[in-house]
Amino acid sequence: PDASALARAESLIGSIADYPEPGVVFRDITPLLADAEALRATIDALLEPFAGQFDVVAGIEARGFLLAGAAAVAAGVGLVPIRKAGKLPRPAASVSYALEYGTAEIEMHDDIASGTRVLLLDDVLATGGTLEAGRALVARLGGEVTGTAVLLEIDALGGRAVLGGDVHTVFHA
Ligand code: PRP
Repeated sequence: PDASALARAESLIGSIADYPEPGVVFRDITPLLADAEALRATIDALLEPFAGQFDVVAGIEARGFLLAGAAAVAAGVGLVPIRKAGKLPRPAASVSYALEYGTAEIEMHDDIASGTRVLLLDDVLATGGTLEAGRALVARLGGEVTGTAVLLEIDALGGRAVLGGDVHTVFHA
């Protein structure tokens, strides 16, 4: 990836205090997405360690989709969506995971070919619950997660340990 474009990309990630609720700092990647060179460099950096190691990209709803579509086209592979529960039209597997308060559930259509190598993408790694559930979903369907990557890791929230240290991160906060 282009180092100066990558540096600009990092500078374009905003921090919005008290959104969506008091005490939360929301990481806003929309300025980065809106900048052609920053977006290109970020997608290149996300994919860099995984060349030739995956058959499809799986992106996690909703913000993971913004990266997964671009990454799939750049890598020349297809895209599989991992959606919040109740959004997929055909038979799907689902995995529930814990949130700070309550639980969430994500789903994936159950027709990926056995042994498909999957690069799992999301925008932000926080506690790691979402990507851990994504991995479980792919495994349950007979796929193999050969890479996990995020645009931004919030180091203090410990998600990396939840993922066994096995996650590629472009930027840290
Ligand atoms: C955010 C983010 C990741 C997840 C990370 O998604 O896009 O998917 O949280 O958190 P975790 O590591 O603690 O699991 P959110 O649920 O806000 O959904 P959205 O992308 O639809 O806004």
